[in-house]
Amino acid sequence: MKPIKVGLLGIGTVGAGTFNVLQRNQEDIRRRAGRGIEITMVAARNLERAARIIGANGGACQIVDDPFLVVDSPDVDIVVELIGGYELPRELVLKAIANGKHVVTANKALLALHGNEIFAAAQEKGVMVAFEAAVAGGVPIIKALREGLTANRIESVAGIINGTTNFILSEMRDKGLDFAEVLKTAQELGYAELDPTFDIEGVDAAHKLTIMSAIAFGIPVQFDKAHVEGISALQADDIRYAEQLGYRIKLLGITRRANVDGVEGIELRVHPTLIPAQRLIANVEGAMNAVLVEADAVGSTLYYGKGAGSEPTASAVIADLVDVTRLATVDPYCRVPHLAFQPNQMTDVAI
Ligand code: HSE
Repeated sequence: MKPIKVGLLGIGTVGAGTFNVLQRNQEDIRRRAGRGIEITMVAARNLERAARIIGANGGACQIVDDPFLVVDSPDVDIVVELIGGYELPRELVLKAIANGKHVVTANKALLALHGNEIFAAAQEKGVMVAFEAAVAGGVPIIKALREGLTANRIESVAGIINGTTNFILSEMRDKGLDFAEVLKTAQELGYAELDPTFDIEGVDAAHKLTIMSAIAFGIPVQFDKAHVEGISALQADDIRYAEQLGYRIKLLGITRRANVDGVEGIELRVHPTLIPAQRLIANVEGAMNAVLVEADAVGSTLYYGKGAGSEPTASAVIADLVDVTRLATVDPYCRVPHLAFQPNQMTDVAI
């Protein structure tokens, strides 16, 4: 069978990782997907840099500077959106869907803000939108919530879902380094967002939490309802005093069922949290992520791993590419409800 054709929008840290891993593990990936996965087109701002990355990894594909050429190309079956930001990606993803292409995206901001519109368009067109890489990098939490735990009534999802802030808090505590210095290292390591205030102020974590909440509870994405508080007001003294009292400070995202004055709803909140130092989640260090899910049949499950970085995130992008390839191959019309977002099955959301 001919390889499935992939068009990449953006070839930064994650795009380069995707090329590397696809190339390195191509035989295993081909076997698992049932056919080859070939990147046929890349849209990049810096064509020379893109050519260097692609050349170094033995790929042969067309490089263009206009991303609309990729979403309109007959030579692309799956569009992988790795641009970041909101408006241009929204336009590109909706165009790709309208053109009957499947979409894989790592863009949590896009889905937290425009997910309802995007999922509805995909459902109508009968194409897939997959987004494992949008939450917790290489940790397969989306697949766990949607597939592994599908038998359960989920009660809560809580975790460390921003690597940059966890890295900052860990380094400040362990090495006594100051905030700005650690942030610079996180940027150099490719953990931080283009606009690092998204990390520091809890916005990135809230984007990811919004997506997990939608899947766990079958509700629309509702980023505007989230309570969002970051770590910028924390001082070295706060971290030290917490330590002396037997606690660690972690930036947690928490979403759970709630009942406020008889009204059923969902809590959605991100804020620094004191956690007893002996708890597992208090010992998640550096850019690692960990998500704890409480569900009725299985009880507690914990998912841990690298939440940011080139190849960990590429691992999730490629997992989606394999999923989409399998399903698109088995069912060319792709009417696969579990990959599409299900509209609200719940009462109104209350915080
Ligand atoms: N800025 C994000 C983080 C990248 O630090 O977790 C991965 O989503």
